[in-house]
Amino acid sequence: MDPGPQPELDWKDGRIPVARAFDDPYFSLAGGLEECRHVFLAGNDLPQRLCDGFHIAELGFGTGLNLLTLALEWARTGRPGCLRFTSFEAFPMAAADMARALAAFPAAAAIAAPLLAARAQGATEIALPGVDLRLILGDARETLGQWDGVADAWFLDGFSPAKNPQMWGEALMAEVARHTAPGGSFATYTAAGHVRRALAATGFQVERAPGFAGKRHMTKGRLVGAPGQAPVIAGPSLQASASSS
Ligand SMILES: C[S@@+](CC[C@H](N)C(=O)[O-])C[C@H]1O[C@@H](n2cnc3c(N)ncnc32)[C@H](O)[C@@H]1O
Repeated sequence: MDPGPQPELDWKDGRIPVARAFDDPYFSLAGGLEECRHVFLAGNDLPQRLCDGFHIAELGFGTGLNLLTLALEWARTGRPGCLRFTSFEAFPMAAADMARALAAFPAAAAIAAPLLAARAQGATEIALPGVDLRLILGDARETLGQWDGVADAWFLDGFSPAKNPQMWGEALMAEVARHTAPGGSFATYTAAGHVRRALAATGFQVERAPGFAGKRHMTKGRLVGAPGQAPVIAGPSLQASASSS
């Protein structure tokens, strides 16, 4: 399979990759690991819900930092078994660029090493300690609809909706819901009103939560009905915010 075009990168402070095409960094300048713990782990009530076979899916694999942060948390729980992690990525980063970005996170170095070695070989199905990764290359708007899996929790991590609207459209959010197990969840750093409304329209009970590092809000939700059901909206009105990031 064609691995797809590699992203052109600029490096903020020499260490944080910024995708030139989207003019957006891959993770928070205020701390990628902490951002992942706050937004994606706590936002999905992880690690409490994690157990053998629990399946996390992600839109936007990028540097792999979210996967590695999850693997560290899973190891910390000491629970037996293995997680599943499926990530959708259109512009796979070169292993050398991943290594450069991940060098800022020495706590993740041991788990990053086998990931980087496998990605350098072009592998997309990679067994890491405690986590089985499947990387699905291509535009998520095409690949997610063809996926036959369901996730217990989603990390929605495209670049910001203002800069990468194709990762946040109604059709793609409906596919996220269609590929979520009953009672499953999502979390994302964005509080953009149109994203929250799109997710609510698919059957997710959508909530705003405090954002990471000075961002007022992020968004999280649980699938309370069958995908495609009428919206269930919790908390402040989703119409209220015009925020777009
Ligand atoms: C914010 S970064 C993800 C950061 C990543 N989760 C990490 O841990 O480093 C957004 C990712 O979405 C990918 N992306 C952008 N548009 C996409 C699309 N239409 N389909 C799939 N991936 C896309 C980008 O290439 C980038 O890797």
